[in-house]
Amino acid sequence: MAQIERETNGQSGIGTTPILSVNNIEVIYDQVVLVLKGVSLAVPRGGIVSILGANGAGKTTTLKAISNLLKSEKGLVTKGIIEFDGRRVDNTTPNDLVSNGCVQVMEGRHCFAHLSIHENLLTGAFTRRNGKAAIQRDLDAVYEYFPRLRERRKSLAGYVSGGEQQMCAIGRAMMSRPKMILLDEPSMGLAPKIVEEIFGIVKTLNEAQGVSFLIAEQNTNMALRYATYGYILETGRIVLDGSADDLRQNEDVKEFYLGIADSNRTSFRDVKSYRRRKRWLA
Ligand SMILES: Nc1ncnc2c1ncn2[C@@H]1O[C@H](COP(=O)(O)OP(=O)(O)OP(=O)(O)O)[C@@H](O)[C@H]1O
Ligand SMILES: [Mg+2]
Repeated sequence: MAQIERETNGQSGIGTTPILSVNNIEVIYDQVVLVLKGVSLAVPRGGIVSILGANGAGKTTTLKAISNLLKSEKGLVTKGIIEFDGRRVDNTTPNDLVSNGCVQVMEGRHCFAHLSIHENLLTGAFTRRNGKAAIQRDLDAVYEYFPRLRERRKSLAGYVSGGEQQMCAIGRAMMSRPKMILLDEPSMGLAPKIVEEIFGIVKTLNEAQGVSFLIAEQNTNMALRYATYGYILETGRIVLDGSADDLRQNEDVKEFYLGIADSNRTSFRDVKSYRRRKRWLA
């Protein structure tokens, strides 16, 4: 299978040094609303990590804090440190971050509806300075990973299915030759079979191209099948984190996020035994 050319390291497999580390960040919207309260997380190089949580938990805010997309929403990181690939990025622009290898695929897919799939993919190469031939090779590679996109290459993105739009958004991100993709709710509004297909492609991109992923998801079941590690966010705090296997076995996770009820548990008080994350960085 074609490899998307890499200008950098080419490391794959899960390394020990994190490619992304978020240390104790706080985010405030509109100068008053405190939405993230001391969030810390790490993504190993070549890993797939998931941020899980219900509506409004702060998943999107966490991803936007990392990719510097909060300003347009009157949001601000008021505390903490974010490092990507060995350097602090809390004060870079979203474009610089894409150039450095970290790109976000927004919630709701965000393709350009009036452009064809092919044109949408080309817009993903906007931060690159290398020539047409290299871009064409990467396009071919994206079409190999997403055969459906090749079939629909001439269709306007606004008229293809939700699943194909999600694939277009991820394919477009791949065109910037990322080391890491921040993926916001890829399963949103999609049928289980399509969600499965998309997560399968994510896994392939991770294994074949060494792209690291941080995936925000409400679909805990799916996310924990593909990620190796997960963080559970509740009202802006990480309340539990662990390997995907441990989280899947955790009784609280089963009950609240996987919908597997234990009949011996009768009240919220009984089940609320989350280990509060030790805030030694605070
Ligand atoms: N631009 C904004 N201004 C003010 N408050 C906001 C803004 N965006 C989000 N919030 C608030 O921040 C909190 C976290 O929202 P966020 O979108 O990060 O959650 P989420 O976990 O991504 O939820 P969902 O699963 O619904 O996408 C919510 O209470 C939300 O109302
Ligand atoms: Mg969200």
